[in-house]
Amino acid sequence: MAHVAMLLLISLALALGPAVGFYGGSMMFTPGNRFPDGSVEVHFYYRESSRGPCGSQVDWMCKSGSCGILTKSEPVVTDSTSENLWCQSETHMATNVTSNGPFTLSSSGCCWEGNVNGVGGWKLHTHVNTGRRSDTQSPNRSPVSAAIPNIRIPQNCFQSIHLLAHDPDDDVVRCRFNDANCTDCHHHPNIHLQEDSCTLYREGSLDLGVHVFELMLEDYPVSNITVTDDDGVRNSLNNGSNPSALSQVPLQFAVEILPPSQGCVPSVNKPRFLTPTPLHGDVHHAAVGEAHEIILRAQISDSSITDFQVSGPFNMSKTLKSESNGVMVATLTWTPQETDLYRHVPVCFAADTLHSQSEMRCIIVTVAKTRVLSGEANVICKDNSISIVVSKASMDGIDQSWLQLRDPTCSLTSNDTHILGTMSLNTCGTTMDDSGDFIVFKNEINSFENPNAVITRRNQVKFGFSCQYPKMASVSNRYVNHKSDYIFTESSFGTFGYSFEVFTDSSFNRQVDPSLYPVQVQLMDKIYMGIEAHTALPEVTLFVESCRATPEDNPFSAVFYDIIKDGCIKDDTVMIYKANSTKYDFEIQAFKFTGGFDEVYISCSVILCAKDSTNSRCAQGCLDQATRRRRRDVSYETARHYITQGPLRVARQTHNAASNDSGFLHMSTSTGVFAGLFVVSFVVLVGFFVYNSRKTRSIDRMHLLSTL
Ligand SMILES: *[C@@H]1O[C@H](CO)[C@@H](O)[C@H](O)[C@H]1NC(C)=O
Ligand SMILES: *[C@@H]1O[C@H](CO)[C@@H](O)[C@H](O)[C@H]1NC(C)=O
Ligand SMILES: *[C@@H]1O[C@H](CO)[C@@H](O)[C@H](O)[C@H]1NC(C)=O
Ligand SMILES: *[C@@H]1O[C@H](CO)[C@@H](O)[C@H](O)[C@H]1NC(C)=O
Ligand SMILES: *[C@@H]1O[C@H](CO)[C@@H](O)[C@H](O)[C@H]1NC(C)=O
Ligand SMILES: *[C@@H]1O[C@H](CO)[C@@H](O)[C@H](O)[C@H]1NC(C)=O
Ligand SMILES: *[C@@H]1O[C@H](CO)[C@@H](O)[C@H](O)[C@H]1NC(C)=O
Ligand SMILES: *[C@@H]1O[C@H](CO)[C@@H](O)[C@H](O)[C@H]1NC(C)=O
Repeated sequence: MAHVAMLLLISLALALGPAVGFYGGSMMFTPGNRFPDGSVEVHFYYRESSRGPCGSQVDWMCKSGSCGILTKSEPVVTDSTSENLWCQSETHMATNVTSNGPFTLSSSGCCWEGNVNGVGGWKLHTHVNTGRRSDTQSPNRSPVSAAIPNIRIPQNCFQSIHLLAHDPDDDVVRCRFNDANCTDCHHHPNIHLQEDSCTLYREGSLDLGVHVFELMLEDYPVSNITVTDDDGVRNSLNNGSNPSALSQVPLQFAVEILPPSQGCVPSVNKPRFLTPTPLHGDVHHAAVGEAHEIILRAQISDSSITDFQVSGPFNMSKTLKSESNGVMVATLTWTPQETDLYRHVPVCFAADTLHSQSEMRCIIVTVAKTRVLSGEANVICKDNSISIVVSKASMDGIDQSWLQLRDPTCSLTSNDTHILGTMSLNTCGTTMDDSGDFIVFKNEINSFENPNAVITRRNQVKFGFSCQYPKMASVSNRYVNHKSDYIFTESSFGTFGYSFEVFTDSSFNRQVDPSLYPVQVQLMDKIYMGIEAHTALPEVTLFVESCRATPEDNPFSAVFYDIIKDGCIKDDTVMIYKANSTKYDFEIQAFKFTGGFDEVYISCSVILCAKDSTNSRCAQGCLDQATRRRRRDVSYETARHYITQGPLRVARQTHNAASNDSGFLHMSTSTGVFAGLFVVSFVVLVGFFVYNSRKTRSIDRMHLLSTL
């Protein structure tokens, strides 16, 4: 009897006790089955954080529209500390909606955890639109985000927080403070929210203690679509100046500002992530019934990592292991169930010490039916290129002529057994990320649709691959100051490359040694540049369609000066040296941009053609603007690729007569953006990319996903 009384007391204490403080919550939803009666099942996943012991205070109710009958699972604890410092749980809810009109769920309560904003009550809203989208032919899926239970930042170290803003339908996601009018919102005068990137920036100092953030995520289609209700009502959603959101979901969290720490240096004063920790925004692919692992590694020298906080789906397990040198490893394991199929599940994490926390990173895990092919592709990482070799046998049912890299001008080639692609670190849409101890270069292979086809019968394929290069402690001779070769792959031309170099004289024999960069060139000097195509095919012609100078490393810069355009020479000082069909050398006199720009980059667009093709772009040569180009025949010419070299830098000089000679005048008459000096020197390119030039061969984070 006494036992029963005890239990009763304890459960009462849990239900009513003041110990549980609301510490934020996030919601996402996704439509499931559509039943013959026209009803659609909508699944909701709600994560709630609490301070102190675990417990959920939220009870979602129908606020407007027909919400159907909401079935709710019990909240499941997904992460907590043994000391009851914080906790996060996830609740699954589902409803069958018949009317298809929009509806809103909401919940509210009294008690945010004590905070410096003086906020007591909290409110959560979820707005669902169940009509059929004209682009996906399915109901809308909400934006996806999450936050770890307890974000902690020393007062002197708070700069910004990058929140996850993913959308399964590829909509544009915006984050807003809960109440756009800020009548009842909680002002953060020293915080700026960048709505498009969903990033909070510090604009002044923040008081010690808990700050609460009540945000709303909204998704907007990128093109004009219609949403059709069951009863045939069509609502146009245009993406013009006043677009309407498809859905709204809450993202609420608390940020605890800790006493200032001695410093904010990653891996000294706060934990720094090490490879293979995923990068913020990474997308992982998992399959139903197969365990998916996420490895987190972090290091700190001045303290020790106590735990990794994780916001993940229920049934995700976490095991910790410590390594030498203050490195701690967490392995997250999750086995998606049948009910998780096609979900986009957010997983956020951070490494904690007693007095600091690493940055928070969030990734997305998408769940496919079963077939996750992996290990059948090799990624070969070299000095300046990435090659990928995928066995055709592992891509059963996939038509490789419909594959492309992230930059659609790069496709893939193949032999009898393999699909092959090679690109350099700066071509084909390869992106660069700093993972902490490594620089990671990433690209992906996608299948694309015939834009004229209404339906597709092909399997969709999308897989990412990456090469990582260790950041070296000291800047070594291997430091590369100038752009190395550009490598591309296209189906009819295989792998080919371009080099773009500066030469010392008009013999174009000696290129300026990369180790001598930055190169100082005197005013009025002639600059010798040469482009050469490298290809195994014997009968090809290189065509330099355009070259322009820009003050930044971007061929599409707003400020530019045309040197060659549409195959026609636009600058009087240019002289072309006839080389052979795959080599294009030219000379130009020095110049500089006005307006405080020190640097000049030269970007050229280049095309390779089959030598005998009379209708190719190469055969056409200089075209005046009025001429319309005909359609490209992919078997006779490559796509237009951009190659850049630079920067050329103007040395600090006293102004002298050089600014009043012809070299100056012909530039200044062109667009008005030019001044006269043109001095060349090559400067550090991308300040932080140093890589190990050892050839590393790795089967590196390779995922091949196929869904029907
Ligand atoms: C929705 O309806 C289907 C069939 O009518 C049923 O199997 C399913 O359990 C329902 N789901 C919910 C969440 O009520
Ligand atoms: C915001 O303010 C405008 C005009 O001041 C008002 O029409 C609108 O209803 C307000 N919205 C909310 C959510 O309070
Ligand atoms: C509207 O759609 C166009 C074309 O898809 C896109 O480029 C643009 O960014 C969209 N605008 C907004 C505000 O989403
Ligand atoms: C969408 O519709 C608006 C208004 O009708 C129009 O201004 C806009 O250009 C359209 N956008 C696209 C991408 O078609
Ligand atoms: C959690 O995992 C167990 C076995 O791994 C499984 O039986 C159970 O259904 C899972 N729970 C949920 C809610 O997915
Ligand atoms: C295709 O290329 C791959 C990678 O270079 C090579 O291993 C394979 O042997 C080649 N297959 C044929 C049939 O040449
Ligand atoms: C063009 O000239 C370069 C340098 O002289 C040489 O390496 C290359 O093989 C030549 N290419 C052709 C197609 O003759
Ligand atoms: C350029 O030279 C001409 C004559 O040589 C002189 O009249 C003019 O003032 C000079 N302009 C500048 C900007 O020095």
